[in-house]
Amino acid sequence: MHLLVCGGAGYVGSHVAKVLYARGHRVTVLDNLSTGHREAVRWGPLIQADILDTASLDAAFQGRHYDAVLHFCARSLVGESMVAPYDYYENNVVGTLNLLQAMRRHDVERIVFSSTAAVFGNPVSSLIDEDHPKAPINPYGASKLIVERILADAAHAYGLRSVCLRYFNAAGASAEDGIGECHEPETHLIPNLLRALINPAAPLKVFGQDYPTPDGTCVRDYVHVLDLADAHVRALEHMERTPGAHAFNLGNGTGFSVLQVIQAAEQVTGHRVLFEAAPRRAGDPPVLVASSQRARDVLGWSPTYTGIADILRTAWDWHRAPAF
Ligand SMILES: NC(=O)c1ccc[n+]([C@@H]2O[C@H](COP(=O)([O-])OP(=O)(O)OC[C@H]3O[C@@H](n4cnc5c(N)ncnc54)[C@H](O)[C@@H]3O)[C@@H](O)[C@H]2O)c1
Repeated sequence: MHLLVCGGAGYVGSHVAKVLYARGHRVTVLDNLSTGHREAVRWGPLIQADILDTASLDAAFQGRHYDAVLHFCARSLVGESMVAPYDYYENNVVGTLNLLQAMRRHDVERIVFSSTAAVFGNPVSSLIDEDHPKAPINPYGASKLIVERILADAAHAYGLRSVCLRYFNAAGASAEDGIGECHEPETHLIPNLLRALINPAAPLKVFGQDYPTPDGTCVRDYVHVLDLADAHVRALEHMERTPGAHAFNLGNGTGFSVLQVIQAAEQVTGHRVLFEAAPRRAGDPPVLVASSQRARDVLGWSPTYTGIADILRTAWDWHRAPAF
């Protein structure tokens, strides 16, 4: 297939592009490089364009046929979304609508969309499955839920086939391919703790130590970015067989607290992680752990990196010698 990977210069998108290419697909990346990296576009050409610009989107579709779009473009900082909601709804909702309309004009009828655990809000059960109530507590999560709804409506109205993949915490890297996680600012725990370990002058901030969890710190489900990439390939295959709009939660099904991740990182790297207590961050639920049973049953997906140490090892390989 020829696949348009929107946001393919970013962290998850670049790993997916690598895996798609390795499985024999042809990849074209579209990205405005707002948070992505030109150096991460290594498996096909880059069209530098913004999904908010309909003319350049049309130009990206003109004269080429894509079998499907994989859509990673987003602003995705929860805290920033709380203070700049218009920017989030504009980029994540209006931008996606532009992309969907361009797809319709150019007869592309399949899309895999990067959704998030943030569509669920505060969990009401220990494992979050697809039927869990969707009540986002920040504009970022709300913007993703709106897109999920648009995709469901488009399935009915236009026959668009879609798969929403709701990642829990993407982590790890593929350092041997020259790609890994590099956000600025970085809000994710694993890159921040590895940065703190490399630069002890800037200790890690642990946001909240009074959550209702066994050690008081937030519990999250970490899923390796290459396992996420494999789910995208399976989502494309699923859409071949099955019309309609589908959604799957993707996680390992095991939660780790911030302190547990720090401890595991110290074991993997042999270094101490210096950290300091900081207040809770707005919009952070205490525990987020996925049930990915539906992805296992329907897509035949199961994560290969199941231990936190395995995930940390690949992230550490990247962070001690990042290619960008
Ligand atoms: N990283 C995670 O743990 C995680 C978890 C859940 C969901 N997600 C979602 O997965 C997707 C990828 O996340 P990521 O961590 O790789 O983010 P990222 O910021 O590394 O990648 C996003 C890419 O999209 C591009 N982009 C953003 N707005 C654009 C626009 N208007 N036009 C063109 N390009 C644009 C950026 O330049 C970047 O390359 C996002 O949609 C995010 O919301 C990520």
